[in-house]
Amino acid sequence: MNKKNLIVANWKMNLKTNDGVKLVQHVLDNGYDSDVIEVVICPSFLSLEAINRTVTKSPISVGAQNIFWIAGEGPYTGEVSSYLISGVCDYVIIGHSERRTILNEDDVLINKKVVSAIENDIVPIICVGETETNTSESDVKSMIFEQIAYAYDGISDEDAINTVIAYEPSWAIGTGNNNDSEVINRVCLECIRGGLNELYDSRVSNLVRTIYGGSVTGSIVSEIVQQEFVDGVLVGGASLSPDGFLEILRNSY
Ligand code: PGA
Repeated sequence: MNKKNLIVANWKMNLKTNDGVKLVQHVLDNGYDSDVIEVVICPSFLSLEAINRTVTKSPISVGAQNIFWIAGEGPYTGEVSSYLISGVCDYVIIGHSERRTILNEDDVLINKKVVSAIENDIVPIICVGETETNTSESDVKSMIFEQIAYAYDGISDEDAINTVIAYEPSWAIGTGNNNDSEVINRVCLECIRGGLNELYDSRVSNLVRTIYGGSVTGSIVSEIVQQEFVDGVLVGGASLSPDGFLEILRNSY
């Protein structure tokens, strides 16, 4: 297996800046094999610059957890645009299920955010997936096809290639119930790559990285990333402990 797995830490609304810096320093001090995995840390907006300074000259990248849908500057109190985070972040998480449900973000808004990220050369990590456990695989497929069709509206082939899709069934997030690794693999192949293949072609669908999120821990990550069509994981809770996160990094291949 020679793919480089992408491991994204989504800290959500956790870790003050000092604690986040300590966690990242612990990872850098103890090490992991950066030839086989790529690590992206997504702290709160408040910690982006400090984490960015901490990872300078290391292979770790920084991502934001959200952006506003207008790309530049302007009178939008409380918002942070892709322009403002450019230079500090390489990635941004878009359409996380917590934002879809708690903040009512819909597919049209998510598409605007994807366009905005691309405008400032930030790689969008677009979250898709079903909400209810026991959803049939054909329903999962039609939901994900629809989410992808909206998210990529107006996005060129060349821009699409440089995106990441995270399969995150919301029933698996923060519950301790991760999805089965073979199901994850099938969803990544048939629903995500299949959806991209309909919108674009096989070149694009093969190059877009597809990762999984939902109760990933150090003890199950290896089984998930060894699946052929899974290119990494998006980790919430288990990325908040220095040793727990290191365990994930060391088991991610
Ligand atoms: P979890 O969160 O690992 O705590 O389930 C994943 C996510 O929400 O991205």
